Amino acid sequence: MTLSGKKILLGITGGIAAYKMNYLVRELLKKGAEVQVVLSQAATDFVSPLTLSTLSQKPALVDFYNQDKTWNNHVDLALWADLLLIAPCTANTMAKMTTGLCDNLLMAIYMSAKCPVMIAPAMDLDMYQHPSTLKNMATLESFNHTIIPAEFGELASGLVGQGRLAENDTILKHIQSIIEKESEDQKLKGKIVLITAGPTYENIDPVRFIGNHSSGKMGYALAEEAASRGAKVILVSGPSQLKPQHDNIELHRITSAQQMYDEVFKYYEKVDIAIASAAVADYAPKTIAKEKIKKSDSEFSIELVKNKDILLQMGKEKHHQFLVGFALETQNEEENALAKLEKKNLDMIVLNSLRDEGAGFQNDTNKVKIFTKDEKKVFDLKSKEDVAVDILNLVEEKLKL
Ligand code: PMT
Repeated sequence: MTLSGKKILLGITGGIAAYKMNYLVRELLKKGAEVQVVLSQAATDFVSPLTLSTLSQKPALVDFYNQDKTWNNHVDLALWADLLLIAPCTANTMAKMTTGLCDNLLMAIYMSAKCPVMIAPAMDLDMYQHPSTLKNMATLESFNHTIIPAEFGELASGLVGQGRLAENDTILKHIQSIIEKESEDQKLKGKIVLITAGPTYENIDPVRFIGNHSSGKMGYALAEEAASRGAKVILVSGPSQLKPQHDNIELHRITSAQQMYDEVFKYYEKVDIAIASAAVADYAPKTIAKEKIKKSDSEFSIELVKNKDILLQMGKEKHHQFLVGFALETQNEEENALAKLEKKNLDMIVLNSLRDEGAGFQNDTNKVKIFTKDEKKVFDLKSKEDVAVDILNLVEEKLKL
């Protein structure tokens, strides 16, 4: 998911979970959002405005007036925001929101906001279940605000129940879905996108395999980006630690190249766009030993057979699909990538070279060149999320979406 250019006003009120907002701010910035933090006076007892200013790269605001007598214009701040999120939101602040009790900067911003409002309450379990809190939450829902329910678990009081602030991942998911709903930019709505990701493991025996260093980061970033643009994504992934976040992503886990091939061709016929970012093993052991192969004093060799080239076959069977391949090279990069574009009947190929620092396997970043039959685009080193944005922008441009 990218929140590139989105403006989020984060209101923090006085609760122990306020410290978690330090991490949320970092995540939001990583995803490309601009964040303006506004704290209630009580929140400053739990989290430092200086930390939040540093993390958000903007002064975190508390009062209408700053020390230098400048004024924080609540109307401008409210109109600036694409989304107002109040997290953690106390019972006190919820009560003010329902009644219009406007006694601090955050409440003045809230009452001037025209953007969507999202609230993540956090409090002790009895406060959370109190009829006044339940009534206030219902009222706020009737104002069309999104409530991210508190979670069950251990609370700061030592009691166990519902009241914990929702995890940051859950809050991020809600932010993403609300931003998407607001966005007119869902150019992949109605499209089915197939993405291969990660490595394949070719078993030698029950304990050993031939694999490669792919983490899946590039493919999963593409899946998240395509899903956030409205596509239904079929993600066929080799072994990876990653988990897709977006609800529109259907994950199909496989292990070997043959399994990836079988899974891809269950869906290939019906997809609109296919992107092969997986690092598929070109060879596999001819036989897989049923038992662990015992060490002996002599040399040992494994006979390998060629795996099917999944992308080559996709190119052969291509009719309506827009087909994107990757090329991971270490020498003669452009020449090899262009040869693959031609041989595999691709519409586009994304070249990454292991000679570029920060590119390729495992890194959070990548540096790519993208080729179509008539065009070459060169990109700087950037996060894999931003590379996914560049790739899908170009796919949309080529498909005239
Ligand atoms: O997962 P990460 O750690 O984020 O790393 C990302 C990545 C480096 C794996 C990714 O950016 C990348 O380059 N993926 C392609 C790696 C690769 O196998 O490249 P290749 O040049 O060997 O293969 C060319 C294309 O054919 C690829 O699209 C590949 O998916 C496909 N292929 C290759 C062999 C095979 N048997 N079947 C295939 O479909």
